Amino acid sequence: MKEKSVTPEREKWSGQLGFILAAAGSAIGLGSIWRFPYITGENGGGAFMLVYLLCCAAVGIPVMICEIALGRHTQRNPIGCFNQLTPPASLLAHFLGGGMVLTGIALLCFHAIGWGVTALIFGGLVFWKSWRIVGIMGVVAGFLILSYYSVIGGWAIGYVVKAASNQLTFETVAQAKTTYLDFIGSTGRVIGFHFVFMLLCVAIIYKGVQKGIETACKFMVPLLFIIMLVLILRALTLPGAAAGVSFCFTPDFSKLTAQGVLVALGHAFFTLSLGMGAMITYGSYLGKNENIFASGVWITGLDTLVSVLSCLMIFPAVFAMGFEPGEGPGLVFQVVPAVFHRLPAGPLWGTLFFILLAVAALASGISLLEVVTAYFVDEKKWTRHRAAIVTGIAIFLLGGLSAVSIENWDKLPAIQKAVAACFGGARASFFDLVDNLTCNWMLPLGGLFICLFTGWIWGTRNAIGEIRHGSKNFADVHLLSLMAGLKDDPSHNSSTHPLTLASMWGIFVRFICPVAILITFLHTIGWLNLKP
Ligand code: PFF
Repeated sequence: MKEKSVTPEREKWSGQLGFILAAAGSAIGLGSIWRFPYITGENGGGAFMLVYLLCCAAVGIPVMICEIALGRHTQRNPIGCFNQLTPPASLLAHFLGGGMVLTGIALLCFHAIGWGVTALIFGGLVFWKSWRIVGIMGVVAGFLILSYYSVIGGWAIGYVVKAASNQLTFETVAQAKTTYLDFIGSTGRVIGFHFVFMLLCVAIIYKGVQKGIETACKFMVPLLFIIMLVLILRALTLPGAAAGVSFCFTPDFSKLTAQGVLVALGHAFFTLSLGMGAMITYGSYLGKNENIFASGVWITGLDTLVSVLSCLMIFPAVFAMGFEPGEGPGLVFQVVPAVFHRLPAGPLWGTLFFILLAVAALASGISLLEVVTAYFVDEKKWTRHRAAIVTGIAIFLLGGLSAVSIENWDKLPAIQKAVAACFGGARASFFDLVDNLTCNWMLPLGGLFICLFTGWIWGTRNAIGEIRHGSKNFADVHLLSLMAGLKDDPSHNSSTHPLTLASMWGIFVRFICPVAILITFLHTIGWLNLKP
């Protein structure tokens, strides 16, 4: 394997806390506060939440550790990372590339032209670029995700303004829906707020890793928790809130379906910012003396805590005010404002809630922009300032298309027809298309490849060598000794123990995670249909 020299002046986090807060900021976002509550509502509450926790522990933590180790080892953005570690020839990559080409041919036979050509091109690229394609896909995914993520981040900013100026004054969800559709349909305003969101992202990334990202996250992540606690206290003290709490925390397994389990796993991936190299990039700024295992567990834990707290913030209020929990994607922009409006000092709670949503989106948005920026800084030798501004403008322009497409797609008939002809679904907007492509295809495939690469190509032995730096042999402690509180007992740290955190992690990365991700991926794209 060819190892390139490490640029000495690479920026660093000030320490483990700075890294954990920045990475937790990336993970905690619209996924935790907007999406998690509504999919929990749709999938029956408590039992779904339990399964989700299990997915985070069994798949989220191992993959997160892979990404951080890859980043810290190579000190590069995702593309540089895979360029550095990809061996000259890999049978496994050829096998995967060949499989995709065959899939593409099969899709063409079924007249799925757009997807067929996509699979053909992608399979060809895997053949040609080998594992380097994982890094390329990560940077492209960062670019694409931010383009529409910023549009929703812009909505959140728009709703802060609306709530603060007491414009969210409706009694019913139907009225809230009209306001919501009106808002997202007014293209000029939506693009304006999208611009503000991107401007904030660029401003933070422009300032650099420690002065920009770390400083912002050290302020934003604690702020998130404070706002959430205030809103939870408000929700829990409403008469009738208990029904919401029991909806969240009473597991009723009869409501859980096999589909629900896969939805939980798919969501764990998105919400933990895995599969596209965000954690590789953030890990590349981590010092050699920091503990990767502990960081991975902390980041996952904080994100999961926020997801659970989001439910505790939303459902008690929803139940207390007599609304429905299974409202779908409109839950946050339609039900929540209607709920808050009915409370005394409604605008205050509404404003706080949307500030929470906007701040969470911003802390995630900067990590997406950093992935793209780091690529241009590392590989193209651009200055950080130039990279942040140029990529920011490009992402803003692409996002504009998503913003227009949500409600006014019909006004761009030529593009609409071209997209529909290629990918089917006459009404699917550009926004839906990019969302589908990134979340349902690129992230799971990226995650799968990252596991396979770490487990089988770079090798768990090399990876664990990287993880051991700064872990004070944590990785080599016998699992049972660790659980029994005997970690520091010398006789329990013997390297002859087979059941260590390191060995468990290796088994998960090589076998359990790839299989789980593959099954979820096949289900998401509709090739595996599990009946309840
Ligand atoms: N984790 C973010 C969320 O839950 O909203 C989304 C995200 C951010 C995904 C950054 C991927 C990423 F690299």
